[in-house]
Amino acid sequence: MTTNNFQPKADPPQAEMTKIVSLCKRRGFIFPGSEIYGGLKGTWDYGPLGAELKFNIKQEWWKAMVKDMDDIVGISASIIMNPKVWEASGHITGFNDPLIECKTCHQRFRADQEDVIAEHENWHKEKKEKTDWTEEKKFNLLVEAKLGVVEGEKDTAYLRGEITQGVHVNFKNILNSSRLKIPFGVAQIGKAFRNEITPGNFTYRTIEFEQMELQYYVKPDEKDSVRHYEFWKNFRMDWYKSLGINPDNLRLREHNKNELAHYAKAAWDIEYNAPFGWKELEGIHHRGDWDLSQHQKFSGQDMSYFDEEIKEKYIPWVIETSGGVDRAALFFLIDAYSEEKDRVVLKLNPKLAPYKVAVFPLLANKLELVKSARKIYDDLRKDFAVSWDDRGNIGKRYYSQDEIGTPFCVTVDFQTLEDDTVTIRDRDTMKQERIKIVDLPQYLFKLLNS
Ligand code: GAP
Repeated sequence: MTTNNFQPKADPPQAEMTKIVSLCKRRGFIFPGSEIYGGLKGTWDYGPLGAELKFNIKQEWWKAMVKDMDDIVGISASIIMNPKVWEASGHITGFNDPLIECKTCHQRFRADQEDVIAEHENWHKEKKEKTDWTEEKKFNLLVEAKLGVVEGEKDTAYLRGEITQGVHVNFKNILNSSRLKIPFGVAQIGKAFRNEITPGNFTYRTIEFEQMELQYYVKPDEKDSVRHYEFWKNFRMDWYKSLGINPDNLRLREHNKNELAHYAKAAWDIEYNAPFGWKELEGIHHRGDWDLSQHQKFSGQDMSYFDEEIKEKYIPWVIETSGGVDRAALFFLIDAYSEEKDRVVLKLNPKLAPYKVAVFPLLANKLELVKSARKIYDDLRKDFAVSWDDRGNIGKRYYSQDEIGTPFCVTVDFQTLEDDTVTIRDRDTMKQERIKIVDLPQYLFKLLNS
């Protein structure tokens, strides 16, 4: 491993990104990976709030894609698979990025990232140096792992480059253990790994990341598959919008023929309007019969489906939706970030917010107030993610909760001791209402699910 890998290079200055990266570190959303050892390029760790945010995103995805669907099941496959899987899937030969190296400083770049290359050339120019590039060569993105207990006899395996193949190799197992009939889908969430040449833009491009994918098996029929393809494109766009992403910041873009991955018959990206440009958030791919045919060929196993309705055997086609959990988390954070007069607010959809509600005693040194607030806090924690804060004054506590996106703050004051009511303050409108303590759970359930 080169020392280059241990020197995280700062992204070009982007004021908004700088503020978001700083908020993420300060408030415990995202930290640089292995920071005390100088970091490791392209790796990030999720702190207490980041872990909650990611968990909420995955939970919403699973609900929309598995729980609410009667034709989709979920699986959880292994990260390390038989290396033949990657031969069959085409990743060993076809999962490449074009690489060039700067002969002056030996930094490596993706040859197709013209803006980054131009920026690098300018950087040398400013130092009165010239840039000389090596010839473009193919660079395989699969991350190797060595398996075995005897040194020198270890076998090469790979950390999965996409979570997809765990589904396709189990196609028959899933069919035989369920009563699914075409069309049906198999969903999965899990980590994938890629030796990215230029990780960067915070968590946008990393070497380890999480994907949430659906493989939807359909009849091998052009018209029918296009109908499903259109459905999933719209469904996935609507999912992001339903969780609060500003629709003006989302678009669908079709891949040019020369951009298509080796497995794709067609591909559209859902892109987000990030401070660093329109960037891919999720890919919707028409994979045709690529995966099952390849696995049939390489494993010698029959991967076909017998269609009872038409009494015919065929290899189904696949429509795939493939999103990144980390990219979704990043873009939800960027989209929610707003600055108002004297406060910073993360206007996260309540379903995604790490804490749903914060509870405060008006004064930390009044035992009766603390006792009553603590009881409310303990009761609410049975149903919600709740934050407790008794530091500083109420204004500072609101500011602190706004900055991490907590939708509601409950304050216990002297009136509470008399009539068992509390104030509840809305993050976005900053309006306060007085409600009975007993009504709090119902009230919150309603607001959080509206
Ligand atoms: N199974 C298809 C597939 O993996 P992809 O377009 O290569 O397709 C799908 O990846 C999604 O995974 C992307 O839209 C992105 O959200 C996420 N992703 C891919 N590479 C990533 C990386 N290096 N860092 C973070 N997320 C990544």
